[in-house]
Amino acid sequence: MIGVFDSGVGGLTVLKALLRELPAERFVYLGDTARLPYGTKSAETVGRYALQAAEALAGYGLKCLVMACNTASAVALPAVRAQLSTLPVIGVIEPGAEAAAAASPSGRIAVLATEGTVRGGAYQQAILRRRPDAQVYALPAPLFVALAEEGLSDGPIAEAVAHHYLDALFAAAGAGAPDTLVLGCTHFPMVAAAIRAAVGPAVRIVDSAETTARHVRAALCQAGLAQAGGQGGLRLLATDAPERFARIGARFLERPIGEREVELIDL
Ligand code: DGL
Repeated sequence: MIGVFDSGVGGLTVLKALLRELPAERFVYLGDTARLPYGTKSAETVGRYALQAAEALAGYGLKCLVMACNTASAVALPAVRAQLSTLPVIGVIEPGAEAAAAASPSGRIAVLATEGTVRGGAYQQAILRRRPDAQVYALPAPLFVALAEEGLSDGPIAEAVAHHYLDALFAAAGAGAPDTLVLGCTHFPMVAAAIRAAVGPAVRIVDSAETTARHVRAALCQAGLAQAGGQGGLRLLATDAPERFARIGARFLERPIGEREVELIDL
C-alpha cells in the first residue's frame, strides 16, 4: 500500500498522476479537510498536522508515503522522515525543483505556490542546490486554490487572476523574464491553462504532480518495492465533509467519486 497525504482534495492531482504511473499499486489517500488550508498556517502548525496525518496513514501498512501537499513537504518533510524512519517518504518539492533546474535554459525560474511554501524557501533552496547560478522568483498565489475548488479553473476570472500574479514578472520583464515556471501547489495543475495564457507559449511549465509520480515509480523500482502486476486499488479518507470531498475531488481526480467511497477518520 502506498500512502498519499494532502491537506484536502488538491493532492488528488498528484494521486491522478500516481495512478497513471503505477496502475498496479494499491493507494490510500488522506485529505485533512478538517484543517485545510495549510498554505496560510504557520510552519509549526502544519508540521504538527503533517506528523499526525503521517502517523495515521502508517497504520494502514505502507511501503511508501507520498507527501502530496507542497506546503507540508516544504515545512515538515524532515520531521515526517524522522518519525517514519523505516519507510521511504517522498515529498513534491525535490522532484519539482529537479525538473525545473533541468528544464530552464537561462536559470531564471519562477515558482508559484502558497504563502507557507514561499515563506519557508524550500523550492528556492532545492533549485539553488542543483543550479547555483539560478535566479528563483517565488510568488504566493493563494487565489488559485479557491478558484480551483470553486470550479473556476479556466475562463476570464482565472485568466484575470493569472495576469494579476504573473504580469509583473513575465510580461513586464521582456527578455529578462523567467523561462520556466513551477506549479508548486497541488491545486495549480487545475488552473494551468489560465497560467499558460498569461505567460505565453514559450515558458516551460513544470507540473510537480507529474514529476513526483515519476520519482515515486523510480524510487520503488530501485528499492525492489514496485508491484509487478495486478489490479491496484484506492481507498479515500477525509477528516471532514466526505460529501464535499467527493463532489470537489471528482474534478481533481477526473473521475466520479461516490460519497460512500470516502471514509471519515479522526486524527
Ligand atoms: N495542498 C496545499 C499545497 O500544495 C494547497 C492547499 C492548502 O493551502 O492547504 O500547498
